Amino acid sequence: MTTTITPLIAGNWKMNGLRGSLDELTALAGMLTTGEAPRAVVVICPPATILAAIARQGASAGILAGGQDCHAAPSGAHTGDISASMLVDAGAQYVIVGHSERREAHGESDADVRAKAEAAIGAGLKPIICVGETEAQRDSGQALDVVAAQLAGSIPDAAELHEIIVAYEPIWAIGTGRTPSNDDIAEMHNSIRDKLVQRFADKGASVRILYGGSLKPQNAREILAVDNVNGGLVGGASLLAKDFYTIISAV
Ligand code: PGA
Repeated sequence: MTTTITPLIAGNWKMNGLRGSLDELTALAGMLTTGEAPRAVVVICPPATILAAIARQGASAGILAGGQDCHAAPSGAHTGDISASMLVDAGAQYVIVGHSERREAHGESDADVRAKAEAAIGAGLKPIICVGETEAQRDSGQALDVVAAQLAGSIPDAAELHEIIVAYEPIWAIGTGRTPSNDDIAEMHNSIRDKLVQRFADKGASVRILYGGSLKPQNAREILAVDNVNGGLVGGASLLAKDFYTIISAV
């Protein structure tokens, strides 16, 4: 058990949220400040348009902000993209890189993800590096190998000296309401831990490994108690303050 790692719960709002969504943040902040102090670091990764507002308004309740992606370059002719330093400028401390929706819809390779993670680290952000297998890969017994290859290709060497976070998100569990068994989650997280320790020694032993994919109030307590699960990356259930708070409280 890696009991010395403070868990982290991150909400990935994806392409959801207008300025009106700040009401959910206010509600969450209220719950976090009136209830028992959370035993987890709490991060929200909203759309870039409301990132600065989330960072500003969440601060007093200890809610940290993160981006959902960044470009690998520090600046330049990249219409529509956002750089790591822009996220920092807006108040972010974290950034998700290599989410499966970006790997798939934007054709991002492990090398792209690694370059983004490097840019994030260079700008002072903590990258949340996502990995995870497809259903076909799991069914054919390749899940551990696929994720090991993604880790090797997506995590930059700079992780030896800087904080990174790994998020294991089986693609078939994202937004589907389905989750792996606790044994399967434990097997994968233990395997990820082994790979991190092989490559980064003590530093690898301290990296948070989040579970993501249909994490809900109903299953959070069980999943967050699995060996080497150091928190969660939450999509759908992070959009409602009450549900997200229940997941945070499950730590
Ligand atoms: P989900 O999404 O919780 O809605 O399954 C998780 C994610 O994609 O990060």
